Amino acid sequence: MSYLGNPPWESGITPPELIDFIASHPPGRALDLGCGSGTNVITLAQHGWQAAGIDYIPRAIRAGRKKAHHADVDVNLRVDDIIKTENMGGPYDLVLDMGCYHGLPLSLRPAYRRNLIDILDKEGTYLLYALTTEDAEHIPGVSQADIDGFSQIGRMEFFLAQLHIFAISESGDNHGIG
Ligand SMILES: C[S@@+](CC[C@H](N)C(=O)[O-])C[C@H]1O[C@@H](n2cnc3c(N)ncnc32)[C@H](O)[C@@H]1O
Repeated sequence: MSYLGNPPWESGITPPELIDFIASHPPGRALDLGCGSGTNVITLAQHGWQAAGIDYIPRAIRAGRKKAHHADVDVNLRVDDIIKTENMGGPYDLVLDMGCYHGLPLSLRPAYRRNLIDILDKEGTYLLYALTTEDAEHIPGVSQADIDGFSQIGRMEFFLAQLHIFAISESGDNHGIG
């Protein structure tokens, strides 16, 4: 993955679901997993959130810090691997993933979900934006088995209640599936 050009998913626009979430929840602590150049971290900070983002591409984090400086907001953007890191902070009121989880190899996804449970506040919300696939083994995306995997972890009552998945269908329509 390269940050030499403008990656096609780097729209620089915060999606309406996150804007709605911000409008309907008091500011708290947020973490964006695979934050890229931090567009959504900056948006959260602009609305009073204590916002952090992790991405393992140093160039993305450097770009994000520059954007945050220009926007005059205080954010915590750092280079790290969301799977390997042992200190992601938390608990967070909001954990966000826009386009990161669905690209992870299947073998790493259980570790991601375990980390998530550790860092998400019991009353917290997890927002996942992902492409869906029926064959996650071969085609990047989130399958039904993935969604079931989110429900199989420990404190599932609160977790399931807080899980929102926004999938992008093949036709390009966005719709909530969880
Ligand atoms: C499709 S991009 C989305 C970026 C950003 N969330 C956005 O919506 O603009 C996926 C991002 O996840 C990051 N990523 C993928 N696997 C990661 C990992 N294991 N640890 C940290 N970042 C990761 C990539 O570097 C990339 O910036």
